[in-house]
Order: sequence, then structure tokens, then C-alpha cells
Amino acid sequence: MAAIVRADDLGKQVESGGQPLVILEAISFGVEAGESLAILGASGSGKSTLLGLLAGLDVPSSGTVKLDGVDIFACDEDARARLRGRLAGFVFQSFQLLPALTALENVMLPLELRGQRDARQQAEAVLIRVGLGHRLHHLPKHLSGGEQQRVAIARAFVVQPKILFADEPTGNLDASTGRQIIELLLELNRAQGTTLILVTHDEALAARCGRQLRLEAGRAVSPRPFTGEG
Ligand SMILES: Nc1ncnc2c1ncn2[C@@H]1O[C@H](COP(=O)(O)OP(=O)(O)OP(=O)(O)O)[C@@H](O)[C@H]1O
Ligand SMILES: [Mg+2]
Repeated sequence: MAAIVRADDLGKQVESGGQPLVILEAISFGVEAGESLAILGASGSGKSTLLGLLAGLDVPSSGTVKLDGVDIFACDEDARARLRGRLAGFVFQSFQLLPALTALENVMLPLELRGQRDARQQAEAVLIRVGLGHRLHHLPKHLSGGEQQRVAIARAFVVQPKILFADEPTGNLDASTGRQIIELLLELNRAQGTTLILVTHDEALAARCGRQLRLEAGRAVSPRPFTGEG
């Protein structure tokens, strides 16, 4: 089966203070549809940069990323954005909910932007699924951190993406709430077959994912060669 996410010899280099700075180097791996992958590594090792490249939010200095077989950096920016909209959802460490909209309205928004008529029913169903049926009309500021993250997860999942990217989705949560959020992501990964690629510092949470990719100073240092095969 072809990988749904495939990185080949991916590198990112920037100019910093007149000097070239290597942020990522020679990263190659593949993720099959329905798998869960944790990206681990110390602060500054390049995790967020890698996630941004995989999702086509940032442009690499070398190498390729294929999503569902499409070379995303061979497309122009519009085509890349369309592909992202069709395939990918995002959950960020800082939730990024719209503060003036209720939980329900936040989750309805991506459906409304797609012109879906039953946005309200679908959004409600997903919010119930993440355990927030009793918080539909709350504004984000009246929700706890864990609840806000569950709204953000509902918003990402409501459009049924094939791939969900999450950058430290538990970084702003206490340990027990963080575990619940990871369980929820894994549950949705299992139930909907969504491919899950998440960044975390937490070894225990990472161990709950099917596979791990470890970064050290911009290089993949998995215990065995991480090729994405097998
Ligand atoms: N545009 C840029 N210009 C210069 N340096 C950058 C740029 N983007 C990232 N870096 C540097 O690259 C390194 C990797 O950054 P990145 O955000 O990917 O790390 P991270 O592993 O996600 O860290 P954290 O766990 O703290 O979120 C950092 O040292 C960062 O300062
Ligand atoms: Mg980061």
C-alpha cells in the first residue's frame, strides 16, 4: 500500500545572523493510512518545523513531501491549500479557537465554509462524541483547557480529514487531561481510520502511538532505521 504521508530526504535550512542554520536534515519516512506516529525530541530539535513541512504550511530547502501520492511542493500554493483542505486537519498546542464564537459555532465553521447544510447537526454530533454535549453554547473563555482542546479536536475532525496533524496537543494541559486528549485522538484514529501524526515531549504519550520518530538536532535518530517500510 502506498504511504499516505511520505517524506524523502527532507531538509530545512535558514539564514540566521548571516550564517546558514540547518534545522532539519535528510529526513525520510512514510506513514501508512490509519497509522499513528509520534514525533519526539528535545525543544529545538525541529519537531514543529517537520510537522509544518509535512502539512505543507512551510516550504523545505530540499527533499519532497507526498500526501496521498501528490508531491505537494511541486504544486503551486493554491493547489497545495486545496489539497490540505481536502486531506488534512490540525490541532495546535494553543487550541486557536475563535473567542467570539461558542463551542458549537467554532466546530460548525469549517462545515459552513464548505457550504454544508447540516453543519449544526454534524457539529453537535462530534461535540457529543468528544464529551462536550453539555457545553455547546459556551464561549472558549468559559471552558477549561482540556475542554477547549476537545473543541479544537472536534473542529479538526468534523470535516473527516484523512490525516490529522497535532503539534503538542497536550502541551498546555495537566498530565491527566493530556492523557484523556491522547486517548480521544487515538480513539478517533481507530474509529475513523484517520492517520494521526502528533508531536509530543511526553514519552508515555508517544508510546501510545503505533510508531515513534525521534529527532535530535534536526536528524531522525530512531532506534532502528526509520524508513517507513514495514
Ligand atoms: N525561520 C527560522 N529562522 C531561524 N531559526 C529557526 C526558524 N524556524 C525554526 N528555527 C530554529 O530551528 C530549531 C527548531 O525549531 P522547531 O520549532 O522546529 O523546534 P521544536 O522541536 O518544535 O521545539 P519545541 O519543542 O520547543 O516546540 C529551533 O532552534 C528554532 O530556533
Ligand atoms: Mg515545537
